[in-house]
Amino acid sequence: MTSGPSAGKAGLCAAPRLRPQRGDMNYFCSMPSVYFQTFGCQMNTADSNSLLHALANRGWHEVSSPEAAALIIVNTCSVREHAEARARARIAEFAAKKRRSARYPDPQRLWVIGCMAERLGERLRESIPAIDAVIGAPELADPEAVLMRHLGGHEDGPAAPPEPEVSEFFPVMRGCNNFCAYCIVPFVRGPETSVKADRIVAALKARAAAGVREVTLLGQNVNSYGDNGLGFPGLLRRVAAIDGLSRIRFLTSHPKDCTEELISTIAENAGLCRHLHLPVQAGSDRILSLMNRKYTADRYRSLLSMIRRILPDADITTDLMVGFPSETEEEFAATLALAREARFTTAFMFAYSAREGTAAAKLEDDIPRDVKIERLNRLIALQTATTREIYESMVGQTKEIMVYGPLKKRGESFLRGQDRGCKRILIRGLEAPPGTLLTARIVRSSGMTLIAERK
Ligand code: SAH
Ligand code: SF4
Ligand code: F3S
Repeated sequence: MTSGPSAGKAGLCAAPRLRPQRGDMNYFCSMPSVYFQTFGCQMNTADSNSLLHALANRGWHEVSSPEAAALIIVNTCSVREHAEARARARIAEFAAKKRRSARYPDPQRLWVIGCMAERLGERLRESIPAIDAVIGAPELADPEAVLMRHLGGHEDGPAAPPEPEVSEFFPVMRGCNNFCAYCIVPFVRGPETSVKADRIVAALKARAAAGVREVTLLGQNVNSYGDNGLGFPGLLRRVAAIDGLSRIRFLTSHPKDCTEELISTIAENAGLCRHLHLPVQAGSDRILSLMNRKYTADRYRSLLSMIRRILPDADITTDLMVGFPSETEEEFAATLALAREARFTTAFMFAYSAREGTAAAKLEDDIPRDVKIERLNRLIALQTATTREIYESMVGQTKEIMVYGPLKKRGESFLRGQDRGCKRILIRGLEAPPGTLLTARIVRSSGMTLIAERK
């Protein structure tokens, strides 16, 4: 679909829009460029990627430094105060340096997108006037429409889709209806909607044909996926049947509706990875109820035994929170006890931070900061020790590893990869292209990483 001269003069970027082609010396520098800074969870990573794809279809390309970019996009997170503070600082920095150089005739543009953009809306622009557009997370479900609204209908050049990664995220649901008392996500991402299974399967077949080998299906609570009677296990079976996708992962499973059917579906399909991210948050029933999590610690324990009975080798990971309003030392001890007993492979651990507008924000945030930090540190110490033990117990085992790419560490060359659970592995002394599945023996554990060698 492209035409025009095939060779540009080296180093000259001033070429008019001559429909340059990949491989031309001036191919990239004549195309408008975008710089992304993405905060927050995998959902934000996926949203940034689909916006990048939509931009690439109009001839934009991604650059790795903000200075030269025609457009800077900051994708924001609101989940904790700290996440917002970091995003805000970065936006202020970009705003202060916003490019006004004669070398670039058009002024640089700054877009703030995602969860904090949804939460604060135009208030963000009032405090940082250099922001050109504020685009909330729900709008990002339709990136073409976003670009139409903010860039207009014209194309800036021939489509130049970025090279696919071997492993990609794919949202199958957006939003959340659970309203856990502490959580801002339902407010900034809106109500739950599921993508139609036919659309998911068609899109994933295309990604597999483009070279993607592993996909992580995303939703705030994938277990409540639904499309005309097809639930999440049914969707998984359809995705597992796609040729070329050797591994399928998913995040996040809410314990309140994690079923035996889901776990059996994983057991019956080799392509479904042996990893469940099953956030428990707390070990005390009173706190779980105040959090509106809709399960008890014992119900969570029986879920764990069901999973371990059907999938004994699965990695189970979790999210834990300390310092929820009114949490006593005994109640925190119940969280510690549950974490000790559950033996999570890894965990994300947080100190509670009140979010305006949530149910918990009406409760007094009465746990002093130093107590929250002290509890968090005790929990981290316990979990780090468990992770270390689990990783050390892997030494001597043979694992099927998907290769993500090469890595240099202290002068030594490795391949980076992951087992069928969630364990990161470095493979020594081998070369293989990304996407390869290979078998290697674990020879060492260095805390949070495993080192493997070919058998
Ligand atoms: N949908 C996922 C979690 C999304 S938010 C789920 O339901 O599990 C990721 C994690 O951030 C949560 O599991 C929780 O542990 C933490 N989190 C959410 N709101 C928080 C808050 N106000 N303060 C501290 N941590 C919070
Ligand atoms: Fe937040 Fe709860 Fe929804 Fe997870 S399930 S996104 S913690 S409200
Ligand atoms: Fe994710 Fe943060 Fe939004 S955790 S859904 S990016 S508030």
